[in-house]
Amino acid sequence: MLKAHHFRKVTSTNTKAREYPPGSVVVADEQTKGKGRFARKWSSAKGGLYVSIVLEPSDRPGLITFIAAIAAQRAVRKISKVDTKLKWPNDLLYDGRKLCGILSESVFSGEKGKMIVGVGLNVNNKLPLSLKTKSTSLKSILKKEISKEKIAKSLLTEFEKIYSEYKHKRYSKIIKEWKKLSHTVGRKIKAVTQQGTFIGEAFDIDTDGSLLLKLENGSKKKIIEGDIFALDN
Ligand code: BTN
Repeated sequence: MLKAHHFRKVTSTNTKAREYPPGSVVVADEQTKGKGRFARKWSSAKGGLYVSIVLEPSDRPGLITFIAAIAAQRAVRKISKVDTKLKWPNDLLYDGRKLCGILSESVFSGEKGKMIVGVGLNVNNKLPLSLKTKSTSLKSILKKEISKEKIAKSLLTEFEKIYSEYKHKRYSKIIKEWKKLSHTVGRKIKAVTQQGTFIGEAFDIDTDGSLLLKLENGSKKKIIEGDIFALDN
């Protein structure tokens, strides 16, 4: 059972969550320094959902992001009837625009490591003008406000269900579910990674959650981290 802690304002729920043991959840109404992947900023005005879960994963930690993405997808569909697609590794897209982002971070204190998975979902929050073409919110899709409390509750319920599959090592079930919801697999994409940029067809997801690309010269490339861009829309 997860135990939730609610705050009005924090710098980042992922940072706050470091103070709590595994099984804890930190939720905030607002973040003053919301973090995105690769040290980017996450716009975190009031009205959005900002939640972080503290975990102690055993293996394949890359799958934790997938679990959070599937849980967020289901919660959004159940509560708001908005059907989103998952962009590798961690975004929920609606009509090609980003509705939700996920940031997983590992924290080591002494022997034990823990992992914090943070979900940022644009619910009723206003987005800055600079993000309007790339991002969206449930309020702008539905033209009405949606209860972020209901979404948060459903998100945690779904997360617990899928996390229990993970605990039972049913990894392929999780990957299969992720692939079913995927916006990425089967597309021609450009992957920008620290090792360089690769163009090819995203043909599968590996057992650890990496993206498998078939490059134009026919060779295969495993993408562990990076940003991807669909080239065929
Ligand atoms: C991304 O797409 O780059 C990931 C964005 C993750 C944002 C969430 S909001 C809750 C949690 N706290 C943070 O500071 N970041 C994550």
